[in-house]
Amino acid sequence: MDKLAQPVVTLDGPAGSGKSTTAKEVARRLGFRHLDSGGLYRAITLALLEDGVPPAQWVDLTDEDMNGLPVLVSSQEAEFVIQVAGRVVQDELRSPSVTAHVAFLASLPAARKRLLHLQHAAGEKGGLVADGRDMGSVVFPDADVKVYLVADLHERARRRLEETGIIPNNSDVERESEVIAERDRQDSERELSPLREPSDAHVIDTTSLNFNEQVEEIVALVEALYVD
Ligand code: C5P
Repeated sequence: MDKLAQPVVTLDGPAGSGKSTTAKEVARRLGFRHLDSGGLYRAITLALLEDGVPPAQWVDLTDEDMNGLPVLVSSQEAEFVIQVAGRVVQDELRSPSVTAHVAFLASLPAARKRLLHLQHAAGEKGGLVADGRDMGSVVFPDADVKVYLVADLHERARRRLEETGIIPNNSDVERESEVIAERDRQDSERELSPLREPSDAHVIDTTSLNFNEQVEEIVALVEALYVD
C-alpha cells in the first residue's frame, strides 16, 4: 500500500487543548485508528503508583524496569486498548494522582524509550491519528499531516473542568489554569522531546472554534492529500 493510502496524522499541543477528543473524532470520520499517546504515559505512571514505587525513586529505574511494567497496548478496530496489570484502563488514567505525576514520569529517558517503541509499533501500518506532545516532532517526523492545537489557558481550563461534569465558576477556572500551566511548564522545559510546535505543522487556535469546526478543519487537511 502506498504512503498516501494510509496516512499518519499528528496532533500536538499543550494540556487541555482538546487534542484527544478532537483526534478521536477526526479518526472516526476518516476511518483511521486513534492513538492517545498521553494515555500511554498515564498507563506507565499508573503501573508505577500501583506497584508502590515512590516517585522519588522513578529517576533510578532502568530500561529493564520500565520494560517489565505490566502495560499492554493492543490494536482494536478504531482504537488502541490499554491494559495495566491485566485489566483494561480508561477513567483511572485520568485520576488526580496519575495527572499529578505523569509530567515527571514523561521527563525520564527510560520511560520515553519504552514509549517510543510502543508508539512506533502502533503506527507501523499508518491509518492513524496520534495525539500528544511530540508526535509530529519526534515520534512520527514524516507524518503526512501535522497539526498543532493551541487555545487560551483559561479556555483550556474551563473545557477540562466541563469534561469532568463540573460547571466551573471563576475560582475553579483559576485553580485549574494553575495546574495546567504547571504541567505545560514541565512539558516545555524538559530536556527530552519538549513540547514544541513542529516547524511544518498547521497551527489551529481553537479558542473561538467549536468542536465540529476544529474537527472539520483537520479532516479537510487530510482530505486535501487525496486531491492532485
Ligand atoms: O495528553 P495528556 O494530558 O493525557 O498527557 C499526559 C502527560 O503525558 C503530559 O503532560 C506529558 O507530560 C506526557 N506526554 C508526553 N508526550 C506525549 C504525550 C504525553 O510527554 N507525546
